[in-house]
Amino acid sequence: MAAPISSSSFLMRYIICCSGFLCLILCSLEKGFALEEREHAHTVEVNSLLPATTCSSSSSSSSSTKGHMSKHASSSSSSSSVLKVVHKHGPCSRLKKQKSKTPTHAQILQQDQARVNSIHSRVNSKKQFKSVDDLSESAATTIPAQSGSVVGSGNYIVNVGLGSPKKQLSLIFDTGSDLTWTQCRPCVKSCYKQKEPIFDPSLSASYANVSCTSPKCTQLSSATGNTPGCAASTSTCIYGIQYGDQSFSVGYFGREKLSLTKADVFDGFLFGCGQNNQGLFGGAAGLLGLGRNQISLVEQSAQKYNRFFSYCLPSTSSSTGYLSFGKGGGSSNAVKFTGLSTVSQGDSFYGLNVVGINVGGTKLAISASVFSSSGTIIDSGTVITRLPPTAYSALKAAFRQRMKSYPLTQALSILDTCYDFSSFKTVSYPKISFVFDDGLTQELDATGILYVGSADQVCLAFAGNGDDSDIGIFGNVQQKRLQVVYDIAGGKVGFAPAACP
Ligand SMILES: *[C@@H]1O[C@H](CO)[C@@H](O)[C@H](O)[C@H]1NC(C)=O
Repeated sequence: MAAPISSSSFLMRYIICCSGFLCLILCSLEKGFALEEREHAHTVEVNSLLPATTCSSSSSSSSSTKGHMSKHASSSSSSSSVLKVVHKHGPCSRLKKQKSKTPTHAQILQQDQARVNSIHSRVNSKKQFKSVDDLSESAATTIPAQSGSVVGSGNYIVNVGLGSPKKQLSLIFDTGSDLTWTQCRPCVKSCYKQKEPIFDPSLSASYANVSCTSPKCTQLSSATGNTPGCAASTSTCIYGIQYGDQSFSVGYFGREKLSLTKADVFDGFLFGCGQNNQGLFGGAAGLLGLGRNQISLVEQSAQKYNRFFSYCLPSTSSSTGYLSFGKGGGSSNAVKFTGLSTVSQGDSFYGLNVVGINVGGTKLAISASVFSSSGTIIDSGTVITRLPPTAYSALKAAFRQRMKSYPLTQALSILDTCYDFSSFKTVSYPKISFVFDDGLTQELDATGILYVGSADQVCLAFAGNGDDSDIGIFGNVQQKRLQVVYDIAGGKVGFAPAACP
């Protein structure tokens, strides 16, 4: 006898039930259960998971405030500024033309692991600054491989103006590091290929070198993990920063006019004018450092924005999000906050007090101490969320349990729970929430759970750390479509749902 499909079995029971009052109660219970199941799952079309090849934004200019951004921009007071955020390798990026350079998923995930290793060694190790002697030495040997953080490929870029007259530059924005830098002419040692013309300080009326004796030069040690060097002839401060995948930038520490938007201009912004640069920056001109250290843009713009910024990372590489500075930039009522914590040894990082994870409406049986002993940071530059291995195995088991009706397929690099959705039109997967120590339960967006290699390899976008003592990282896949609000002065980080496409 063929097994009845669920709807007919429901109907049958309904017919049987309707003869009595008790059965009526049973029926509504069953109906309630089915409803609850749906409440705790996302149901999406498989096609909607796959990336589009054209940019869905109406404009690709950096100062555009069209679409969803207008609601942030229009409500803004004079002390806010909104930039457009695009995925580095997506069709909305100005850098996308270098098609051959687009990394594979395996490469992106490998670079992501290099960033995570670098964050872990930075957080775990005692600070030991190595010095940057001069530009003529190979930076790769001068600068220790463990310091700094990593840029990776699964990242987001914004466009800012630098100098007078102003030149537009695409920079990777990074809440996990502090120093902002761009490649600079004359590229004394080396510059990698970038999409836009390389910044030339000699053509800018507002550029100045920072002197070796300036206290600002000294601040570089904690921001970069390297003691600054000094160009003897002009007494110019030399910075060096190394990222975990052999990428680095070394150059003159300078001051320049930074224009976030037409209205938001900072004179004397401290930045790295890179003369020796190498690595996987994918055609971006450099990096915008939004970490907690004194040299970061957040600190340098503190008088204007009071250490308040927010962003929304778009759900796909074919749509755009935003990066906004200042309270006027739109902190809606929908934002719910949790306390910001500090990370010992990792003073660039924004710490969160995660205590639990819910899968499909059920809290995983993981002791809160598993999370509290490792600690957790939120990072815009790490792609895949990293959990203590004890927490990850519980998450993986619960997720697999609820995904039993889909065929598991081979792992994709660091992702070990992947499904073949190619024979399905729609799929359902459990909702996932993070629970914080002060009571906030934050549900991830439907696009913040899976990493899509292709229709036949769709993976749970989480990974375990090597050891329960390694710090957890709330990565950028899990931040997708959430408005993430950093209120540093208020000591809190907040989230609001569905804030960008
Ligand atoms: C900055 O210092 C470098 C290194 O000594 C020098 O070559 C360059 O001309 C200086 N630039 C300015 C504007 O002083």
